[in-house]
Amino acid sequence: MKAPSLLAPLLRGALIAQTGRPWFVSHEPQDTAKEPAGLAVTLDADAIENETATAQRLAEAFENSRHFAEGAAPLRVRISSGSGVCAFLCAPTCEGVEKIRRGERMPAWTRAHRDTNAARANVVEDKVALVTGGARGFGEEIASGLAAAGAFVFIADLDKQRADNVAAALNARQGKTTALSLEVNVADEASVRAMMETFALTAGGIDLCVSNAGVLRAASILEQDMTDFRAVTDINYTAFAIITKHCGRLMKAQHAAAPAWTTDIIQINSKSGLEGSDKNAAYAGSKFGGIGLVQSFAKELVGYNIKVNAVCPGNFFDGPLWADPRNGLFVQYLKTGKVPGAKTVADVRTFYEQKVPMKRGCTGADVLKAVLYLVEQTYETGQALPVTGGQVMLS
Ligand SMILES: NC(=O)c1ccc[n+]([C@@H]2O[C@H](COP(=O)([O-])OP(=O)(O)OC[C@H]3O[C@@H](n4cnc5c(N)ncnc54)[C@H](O)[C@@H]3O)[C@@H](O)[C@H]2O)c1
Repeated sequence: MKAPSLLAPLLRGALIAQTGRPWFVSHEPQDTAKEPAGLAVTLDADAIENETATAQRLAEAFENSRHFAEGAAPLRVRISSGSGVCAFLCAPTCEGVEKIRRGERMPAWTRAHRDTNAARANVVEDKVALVTGGARGFGEEIASGLAAAGAFVFIADLDKQRADNVAAALNARQGKTTALSLEVNVADEASVRAMMETFALTAGGIDLCVSNAGVLRAASILEQDMTDFRAVTDINYTAFAIITKHCGRLMKAQHAAAPAWTTDIIQINSKSGLEGSDKNAAYAGSKFGGIGLVQSFAKELVGYNIKVNAVCPGNFFDGPLWADPRNGLFVQYLKTGKVPGAKTVADVRTFYEQKVPMKRGCTGADVLKAVLYLVEQTYETGQALPVTGGQVMLS
């Protein structure tokens, strides 16, 4: 029998293909078989090994199902083969799955082909999203904005406690389960693989991956400890490849069953990925490299309808990286005399704000708009979108 985490994205893809809208597909490890399955599918030996054959078998099963009508999807799907049975609960949203689990009626749903002409504000509604580094800074604001726009968001971070707090706050604000937290080290392939397995078993797959986790360790190249240089490269550059590898596999499986559905991988890059950064080579090099990865992944994954783009924000002066009163960059730059004549943190801030044609730093809301635009725009991939108040202009 195929592992449930390999079947789940194919089942989710089949539901998307049937309905033109996102679904939440949750594996039931202890299927008690009390209730009849809405859809029971038997896989023959070929289909078990082969993604395309499984996708075809699922599509046939849906087409032949008398239960599958508008507003009355199969709530329980059982997929069996000679070697075992896998059971899933399926609903358009996480809330729907929770209702089925409590024995309540699933809310009615309608067909909505949102992948083509969706208005920007609705473009992520009911989609499943991941935000790495979602516990703080830009990541927290992106996760919060996606949840407010109707997405279900996995908040994945090294700092589990903070991720838990962010997810709890979002769920309280939205009055439903709209976010789940996960601990991950994006630079560790085993940790990322385990995270993708959790997505498959919890939601069935993923529509939007925001690879946001990143670090900055600025130093002169004449002085920098190479351990720091490698740490920056591991988290900002290599980790993006690890995330794309495992997220791409999940999206590719969905694609086998839902070939018209578009999914997105978006790297939160930086203006330092477009222009060198003084005494900050490890960071700028890792971000420049990220754009090379974005362009290359975009060319390869377009065949699976996966778009890969980058957002390149300017400095987030209100975020913890800059504004932390103990060790934020404003405090560090004041102490090290990086800004000539600056006597206070406010002087340092003004110095950097004056470098921006629009005279202010970038905000989470600015970055969120760019993320939503990239999802909405289905005729673009491999791009690096600056959000810098005019500080960096593409040539
Ligand atoms: N702050 C800025 O001025 C600025 C400007 C342009 C681009 N960016 C980029 O935006 C992204 C977010 O930056 P920020 O300033 O909001 O960061 P931040 O330091 O405020 O938050 C980063 C989050 O990532 C998490 N994280 C770090 N390493 C991780 C790992 N290995 N695995 C999982 N999670 C990890 C941290 O725990 C933290 O919650 C980064 O990629 C950064 O390069 C930031």
